[in-house]
Amino acid sequence: MAFNYWPFINKNKTTTEKDTQITVIPDHVAIIMDGNGRWAKQRGLPRITGHKQGMDNVKQIVEVANTYEVKVLTLYAFSTENWKRPEQEVNFLMKLPQEFLSVYLPDLIKENVKIEVIGHLERLPKSTQKAINNALEKTKHNTGLILNIAMNYGSRLEMVDVVKSIAEDIRLNKLTPDQIDEQTINQRLYTSHLPEPDLLIRTSGEIRLSNFLLWQLAYTEFWFTDAYWPAFSEHEFKQALLAYQQRKRRYGGLE
Ligand code: IPE
Ligand code: IPE
Ligand code: MG
Repeated sequence: MAFNYWPFINKNKTTTEKDTQITVIPDHVAIIMDGNGRWAKQRGLPRITGHKQGMDNVKQIVEVANTYEVKVLTLYAFSTENWKRPEQEVNFLMKLPQEFLSVYLPDLIKENVKIEVIGHLERLPKSTQKAINNALEKTKHNTGLILNIAMNYGSRLEMVDVVKSIAEDIRLNKLTPDQIDEQTINQRLYTSHLPEPDLLIRTSGEIRLSNFLLWQLAYTEFWFTDAYWPAFSEHEFKQALLAYQQRKRRYGGLE
């Protein structure tokens, strides 16, 4: 599908200067990018226009995260439950990673961003898988921000995969049930090589996790905003960082 007939929409303005008030930076920020459809509806536009605008906003927020030297940015792009949507919308969403990479991969490479993905990619169209694999390959030696995209991701499915892997190791006598501890599970998560998210942001006013990183978010700080994802700007990101640095993380202990 061509992308050039969309009405002109003002881009959110991004500056690349750090706000000196922000002194505590989370290593890992995870975002549930929600509200694309409502953003479009509010403007009398089709839902897919919201997804397109949301895609462009990903690039802007990557730039902001990079400015603040966040190490990992995990973005929820498509859940294992999103297949329930009308076929036309699903097809559009399936093509978005490809579109995103065809527009932004050269910049991301220059910006030293390392692209990673979590989720069951084998269910995506072959052309999308190809574009993603190319991006993984081209950025694998980059040492800057890790941009981790959750695509056809579901936390319960991830846990099913973990359980299967443990069961298989027991069958092969590599593991006994009494050896299973939290590490056994951590090592088998799709995110095993990443730190746990420090900050979770969800846009669009919904206050739920929608099957996102249920294990990994056990001690994450949550921040919610009513802004729809396409309108989530540098300003909101800074608000989230400012809120984060006020939090007292106790992990069940005392300060
Ligand atoms: C988030 O926006 C993008 C995806 C879930 C793929 P939505 O499409 O959920 O937008 P709303 O929540 O219907 O407004
Ligand atoms: C969560 O948003 C999934 C993504 C942002 C990819 P949804 O819009 O699918 O979540 P629900 O249905 O409102 O819980
Ligand atoms: Mg939604």
